[in-house]
Amino acid sequence: MVLHSGNTNQANRRGGSNPLVGGRNPAFAATLTLPHHRLAEEPLPADTALQLVRDELLLDGNARLNLATFVTTWMEPQARDLMAECVDKNMIDKDEYPQTADLERRCVSILADLWHAPDQADVIGCSTTGSSEACMLAGMALKRRWSKLGRTGRPNLVMGANVQVCWEKFCEYWEVEPRLVPMDGDRFHLSAEEAVAHCDENTIGVVAILGSTFDGSYEPVAQIAGALDELAGRTGWDIPVHVDGASGAMIAPFLDPDLVWDFQLPRVASINTSGHKYGLVYPGVGWVLWRNHDALPQELVFNVNYLGGEMPTFALNFSRPGAEVAAQYYTFVRLGREGFRAVQQASRDVAMGLSARIAELGPFRLLTRGDELPVFAFTTTPDVTSFDVFDVSRRLRERGWLVPAYTFPANRTDLAVLRVVCRNGFTNDLADLLIDDLSRDLPELQAQSGPTHDPKASTAFHH
Ligand SMILES: Cc1ncc(COP(=O)(O)O)c(C=O)c1O
Repeated sequence: MVLHSGNTNQANRRGGSNPLVGGRNPAFAATLTLPHHRLAEEPLPADTALQLVRDELLLDGNARLNLATFVTTWMEPQARDLMAECVDKNMIDKDEYPQTADLERRCVSILADLWHAPDQADVIGCSTTGSSEACMLAGMALKRRWSKLGRTGRPNLVMGANVQVCWEKFCEYWEVEPRLVPMDGDRFHLSAEEAVAHCDENTIGVVAILGSTFDGSYEPVAQIAGALDELAGRTGWDIPVHVDGASGAMIAPFLDPDLVWDFQLPRVASINTSGHKYGLVYPGVGWVLWRNHDALPQELVFNVNYLGGEMPTFALNFSRPGAEVAAQYYTFVRLGREGFRAVQQASRDVAMGLSARIAELGPFRLLTRGDELPVFAFTTTPDVTSFDVFDVSRRLRERGWLVPAYTFPANRTDLAVLRVVCRNGFTNDLADLLIDDLSRDLPELQAQSGPTHDPKASTAFHH
């Protein structure tokens, strides 16, 4: 460390023998040049360290203007307080923090009820760090269940090419062949016919997404399950469905109560969701539930000590913060069904209102309207030649809006879109400001001689 002036030894002396205690010199931080990639020799007073780190973080985007993420960027102050109080609790210490463990179990029961589990007593589920870990666990259960059938071929998993990258990771890490059904024309997600056409006796499961990361649309879970029922009758291949409800499993129960997509379908073996997406909790918490004990092979479950007894756990991580689980339970208690419905409806209303106004601007065509997930994707109309979606994304960023532009996967790599995720805290008022900025940018974009984006630059986007 290079210390130009001010002296940490002096600071230490002021604070006594403990180097973590020190007084504050408001000008001190300005005088420091710190190494960024190795430890400095000397400690700093806490206020100085805080100022330095906080200042650097000013360079991050503003989370509330981040329309790229599905992840919660606003919670009530009471939830923040609760999280701060629980930040020192380790979720795995069930014996030491039995009440946190109980809140986790209550959350699993609440989700089982929301997702129409036929037998609450037989449901098994757990919290995770997010949907990615939840999907890994669900995929492992599918693979293990398949391997017990004694088949000898290479296991495969059928899903749309629109799956989130966590499923490709699962296949790579657990040596399963990913059978990615490509998009086709204006079909941007998996269909029942295509799902069944890609299955064989070594298919460990079919992943149905509620809803798609690419455009917010729901995949037809009931139709996929029905087609697999028919396949089972014809061939004897009893292929389970996992519903990746990272976002939609916390939207559909409140806004689309008549949609049948969950454990009401006997073929649905497991469901995951991200507590930190439309579960309305700060990152990172996810959930995965199996409809019954048969769907989760017992050898995958490990026991930890709990109040002197044993508690089953299934996780990739061992240690994990308890704060998010407490915050999830707080959110359930705080909102109830009606509160959740109102919050999710408000996000859908903002999404649909905003998408309609974007369509009215003229140069844009909507792929989705935000009437399933409160998420919509749009592209430029065919007559637009002076700019592309990447230019729009860059111009909006100049005002602080983070709206990603990306190309679609196999078969539709010709299609590049912008996507807007409307979440709790993204108000009509902010949506008005986004429209104002977009409208202000359009004349300059239309005056360009052509898109400024380098087509060779990578445009893959894996949120
Ligand atoms: C459909 C889907 N599945 C899985 C994930 C991964 O979720 P997480 O970020 O909670 O790990 C996402 C994230 O956007 C998603 O949209």
